[in-house]
Amino acid sequence: MLFTLVTIWLVTSLAAITLAQDKPKDLTDLLNDQKNLTEFTTLLTKQYGDIYANLSFQDQVTILAPSNAAFAKIPYSTLGPAFLNNQSDVVRSVLEYHIVPGIQRAESYNGSFRFTPTWLSDSGDTNVTGGQVVGGVQQAGNVNVFISGLGTRSTLEKANLAFSGGIVHIIDTFLVPPADFIATAPQFNLSAAGGAATNASLDEYLNTATDVTMFVPNNDAFQRLGSAFTSMPLAELARVLDYHIVNGTDTVYYSSKLPNNTILNTRQGKKLTVTFASNSLFVNSARVLQEDILIANGVMHVIDNVLDYNATEAKPNPEIQTQGAIIQGSSLSGNVVPFSSYLPNTVSSFSSASPSAGASSFGITDIGSGASNTAFGNARSTSSSTAGGAVHTGTSKGVGDRVYSPGSGLGGVFGAIVLGAGFL
Ligand SMILES: *[C@@H]1O[C@H](CO)[C@@H](O)[C@H](O)[C@H]1NC(C)=O
Ligand SMILES: *[C@@H]1O[C@H](CO)[C@@H](O)[C@H](O)[C@H]1NC(C)=O
Ligand SMILES: *[C@@H]1O[C@H](CO)[C@@H](O)[C@H](O)[C@H]1NC(C)=O
Ligand SMILES: *[C@@H]1O[C@H](CO)[C@@H](O)[C@H](O)[C@H]1NC(C)=O
Ligand SMILES: *[C@@H]1O[C@H](CO)[C@@H](O)[C@H](O)[C@H]1NC(C)=O
Ligand SMILES: *[C@@H]1O[C@H](CO)[C@@H](O)[C@H](O)[C@H]1NC(C)=O
Ligand SMILES: *[C@@H]1O[C@H](CO)[C@@H](O)[C@H](O)[C@H]1NC(C)=O
Ligand SMILES: *[C@@H]1O[C@H](CO)[C@@H](O)[C@H](O)[C@H]1NC(C)=O
Ligand SMILES: *[C@@H]1O[C@H](CO)[C@@H](O)[C@H](O)[C@H]1NC(C)=O
Ligand SMILES: *[C@@H]1O[C@H](CO)[C@@H](O)[C@H](O)[C@H]1NC(C)=O
Repeated sequence: MLFTLVTIWLVTSLAAITLAQDKPKDLTDLLNDQKNLTEFTTLLTKQYGDIYANLSFQDQVTILAPSNAAFAKIPYSTLGPAFLNNQSDVVRSVLEYHIVPGIQRAESYNGSFRFTPTWLSDSGDTNVTGGQVVGGVQQAGNVNVFISGLGTRSTLEKANLAFSGGIVHIIDTFLVPPADFIATAPQFNLSAAGGAATNASLDEYLNTATDVTMFVPNNDAFQRLGSAFTSMPLAELARVLDYHIVNGTDTVYYSSKLPNNTILNTRQGKKLTVTFASNSLFVNSARVLQEDILIANGVMHVIDNVLDYNATEAKPNPEIQTQGAIIQGSSLSGNVVPFSSYLPNTVSSFSSASPSAGASSFGITDIGSGASNTAFGNARSTSSSTAGGAVHTGTSKGVGDRVYSPGSGLGGVFGAIVLGAGFL
């Protein structure tokens, strides 16, 4: 009798334990258990109850939940104005950007940078088919980093917390929804391209188009060709710039979607050819210096030359670091950076610091901190911020194999490198 009772007790206990393991806690219990998520929990449950309720109905979702420490950084971040002014539509978008469909366990990321779509899909925030993406990569020491708009880096602090609807990762810094091209350009020292696009009235196109891919010449490239632009008619400038923009498709060409010898149609009408050589990605003869910088409607890749639609067959010389210019021109006296002055003035009185100077060697740009002025949801207004400095820079081991190599190999030609201070 006793034996039977003990057996029954054992069996039911085991069943209960199994049940408990099979059925993880619900989101409410999970959030209440996490001391570092009290701010997030309050925001979600008290102010965005509809998103919270929606999450409770999911069964395959990954929540990137900002820790209390991430909340403490908000006032000093690009998100500051939106939170401080309680711009609930903007905060809502920010929260949506932190929700990733599907189970994205920490160990599913490796050294190859990859993007996943998010719930941020409202056309007021992004025009990327399937939702704006967030980047993820695993660094040495199994440290996972997520990369979002303005090169913001968020480190995963506590991974794979299971609940009935999916998993939660706790991150140390808010993800920042990517801003439009004109607002993003100055953050990456691309004021010439940003100013040129403004001057040629391309900003309107860029702010309404869907699934944009742009190859953006850096300031040096424009500077070296200064004289070519002094008397260039606006219509010609527009053609030149249009040759840097892939004609609308339903594909955003992140670097992972650019295998060797990809041919792309441009808005200008002529084609671009993407190739790999000597561990670098090239577009025609220009070298890609930084890959995969997210913008509201797609992605941009920074290149070291202004592309010439009259030279569609231009081939790179991978043996030399900086590819020769194709468009004829020379730098202006005083090394003036053309077009920069046409960028809408976004500098606030608060951010007086200038970007920290970049590292000198090939492919490395530390966009640094300071001098940033883009508020998501409030772009081009006077706000202050310091955008994080992560830049997924350009060289690569080969097609579909972009390797993230933190620290070691800086300045080397092997491996893509993500750089920067990465604070909000
Ligand atoms: C909370 O986060 C801090 C870092 O911000 C970390 O040191 C601490 O261990 C975390 N606490 C818990 C309970 O996870
Ligand atoms: C939950 O949110 C997703 C993404 O925005 C949306 O597609 C879905 O319709 C929502 N579900 C409910 C029940 O509100
Ligand atoms: C912010 O707005 C939400 C509604 O969207 C409201 O519930 C909340 O009380 C507001 N917070 C402040 C500090 O005004
Ligand atoms: C990362 O995983 C992907 C997909 O499983 C694979 O194609 C890629 O080669 C891996 N990269 C590294 C560096 O291991
Ligand atoms: C474009 O540049 C010309 C001078 O080259 C200037 O007169 C014009 O105002 C600029 N237009 C815009 C929209 O910035
Ligand atoms: C998306 O496109 C629509 C119209 O095509 C436009 O009104 C909206 O501003 C665009 N959104 C962004 C973030 O550019
Ligand atoms: C920005 O571009 C200018 C012009 O080419 C260059 O002199 C400067 O070093 C660049 N700054 C950074 C931080 O890369
Ligand atoms: C761009 O694509 C659209 C639609 O696919 C097409 O109508 C247009 O002719 C293309 N423009 C150029 C310059 O090829
Ligand atoms: C890319 O294609 C070019 C031309 O077909 C070839 O010469 C080169 O070796 C290829 N690169 C790689 C990395 O396979
Ligand atoms: C391209 O060629 C046309 C016709 O010869 C010429 O008018 C134009 O200035 C050239 N553009 C560039 C950027 O070289």
